[in-house]
Amino acid sequence: MRQFISVDDVVDIEALVDRALDFKKNPWQLPELGRRRRIGCLFLNPSMRTRLSTQVAAQQLGMECLVFNVGTEGWALEIEDEAIMSGNTVEHVRDAAPVMARYFDILAIRTFPKLQNRDDDYSELLIRQFIRFSGIPVVSLESATLHPLQSLTDLVTIRESVASDTGLSNRKPRIVLTWAPHIKPLPQCVANSFAQWVNRWGGADFVITHPEDYELDERFTRGATVTHDQQEALRDADFVYVKNWSTYRDYGKIYCNDPDWMLTHEKLAQTRSAKVMHCLPVRRNVELSDEVLDGPHSIVTRQASNRVWAAQAVLAQILENIGRP
Ligand code: CP
Repeated sequence: MRQFISVDDVVDIEALVDRALDFKKNPWQLPELGRRRRIGCLFLNPSMRTRLSTQVAAQQLGMECLVFNVGTEGWALEIEDEAIMSGNTVEHVRDAAPVMARYFDILAIRTFPKLQNRDDDYSELLIRQFIRFSGIPVVSLESATLHPLQSLTDLVTIRESVASDTGLSNRKPRIVLTWAPHIKPLPQCVANSFAQWVNRWGGADFVITHPEDYELDERFTRGATVTHDQQEALRDADFVYVKNWSTYRDYGKIYCNDPDWMLTHEKLAQTRSAKVMHCLPVRRNVELSDEVLDGPHSIVTRQASNRVWAAQAVLAQILENIGRP
C-alpha cells in the first residue's frame, strides 16, 4: 500500500480486515517493522481517538510518532496554487510539505471541511497537495469528505461480531446507517466513507435511512437501499450505525432536525437485537439515548478500541511497501 486516502487504496478489504484482527490477537508481533521509521501526524482539527490510536499503533510497530497540531500551533497554511499570499496564510504547502518529508517517512493528516463550498471541500485539495509536494506516503486521519481509518475499523468491528454470532453464519448481515439529529452542521465524511467501504466490501444487505434533503453523494451510496422511512429500515437490522451529517445538495445545512430520528431502545425492538455503532464523539440524548449507549446493544467502546488494529494494519502495509531504512 502506497498511501491510505480512501478504499481505492486497498487491494483486498477482507485481507486488511483479517490483518487488523490478527494484530488484535497479537499486537506486538512486528515490533521491528517500524524501527528507525517516523510518522508525523498533522492535526488541523481536534481529535481524541484517531490521534491516540494512531500513536499506539505506530508504537506497537516500533515506529516513532510525532504529533503536530498545525491548526492551533503551526503557521497558517496556504494550499491554492499560484496564491498571492497577502492575506492570513503564512506558509505554502508547496514549501512546508517537502520539509516535513525530510523529517518523516509517513505523513498522516486530519482536516475537516469548511462546509461553505461543496466543490472546494469535495476537491480534497489539502490532502492532494500534501501527497503532491511531500512525495512520501500520506495517510488520511479524516479528510474533508472521507474517514477511511474509521471505516476500516467499522468493518473490523462488524466482521468480528459476525464471526461470534451463529445466527449470521449463513446469511449476509443487514447493516443500517441511520441519520441522527445534531445541534450543528457536521461533515458527511463518516457517512460517505462508511457507505463507500460497505458497498465495496459487498458482504452486507446495506440500507441508508435519513430525512428528506439529506441525500449523500451517490458516488458513495450507490449499491445501498436508501429510504426516508427509518422504521422500515430498522426492521430486522443486525447492525445500526448512527451518525449525523449536514445536507450535501444544498451544501452544509441543517434542514429537518426532528428529535424523533434519535435512536431509542424502543426502536431497537424491531431489529434482530441489533448492535449499535457510532464513531464517537456522540451527543448523548441528541443523537443516541443514554439507554441505548449504556445498554447491551451498544458496541461503541469496542468499536473505538478497534481503531488501534485498523491503524496498525494500514501502517504495517505501508511500512512493508517502503522497505527497510
Ligand atoms: N471517531 C473519531 O475520528 O474520533 P476523534 O475525532 O476523537 O479522532
